[in-house]
Amino acid sequence: MKRSIAVAARSTIGAKGVMAATGVVLLLFVIGHMVGNLQVFAGPEKLNAYAAFLQGLGPALWVIRLVLLACLVLHVWAAVVVTRRSREARPVPYALKVDRVTSYAARTMIWSGVLVLAFVVYHLLHFTVGAYDPAEVYGALDAAGRHDVYSMVIEGFRHVPTTIAYVIAQVILCLHIQHGASSMVQTLGMRTKDCATRTDWIGPGLAALLLIGNLSMPLAIVTGFIGGETSTGLPAQLTLPSGD
Ligand code: HEM
Repeated sequence: MKRSIAVAARSTIGAKGVMAATGVVLLLFVIGHMVGNLQVFAGPEKLNAYAAFLQGLGPALWVIRLVLLACLVLHVWAAVVVTRRSREARPVPYALKVDRVTSYAARTMIWSGVLVLAFVVYHLLHFTVGAYDPAEVYGALDAAGRHDVYSMVIEGFRHVPTTIAYVIAQVILCLHIQHGASSMVQTLGMRTKDCATRTDWIGPGLAALLLIGNLSMPLAIVTGFIGGETSTGLPAQLTLPSGD
């Protein structure tokens, strides 16, 4: 039984199913994370209360993190299986490569996936580990004694190179989701001939929504539209790179 599940999962269709199912979970996380983060527009009280609520989940937060990590590992593994299988199916490359049918996003899935993974590692080091910001930014507490996530985000995105890195990462994520969500809809059997026009918007629509939402935060901060009131005492103006 165990063996037959493993064999099925390693088949291209099985691996695509694993990729679609884990893709749904990861996509839900990215949407939920964006909605939560957008509270930066509501000010420090709202964002810090939200962050404190998440931290207060305690062991449940670790269960969520472990489920997300498992989905990420399975998603990457399935992508490797599908890519290897499609290469094995055509060991001799096309003499003339004409990509008429597939989109740019579809052809670069594996590379956009690798870059999104690299972004997640960088992002965790940035905001979860606090590897780049000084202690007065990363370790700051607000007046209520909570981790001052608001000030950390504001100070983080005042740094122009950081914002540029995030903007590039969000465009790559958008490309990945545009094609990923579309093929997920197909793999899960939601795209039939009859309802194709009703489901074809899902990939591009979700990608556009995430791009706009995720770009709005760093761009609003770096342009000084929000972020006048942080607890770190650093000046509420654009901090240009010092060159160190
Ligand atoms: C501009 C957009 C984004 C902002 C402002 C943002 C902000 C944050 C912040 C502030 C944290 C730390 C929360 C805390 O310490 O309480 C965090 C954690 C995290 N972010 Fe983002 N994020 C963004 C985009 C993304 C994207 C696109 C992904 C995934 C592709 C992502 C994945 C994560 C993960 C996995 C964590 C760790 C969650 C945990 O500790 O359990 N973020 N983010």
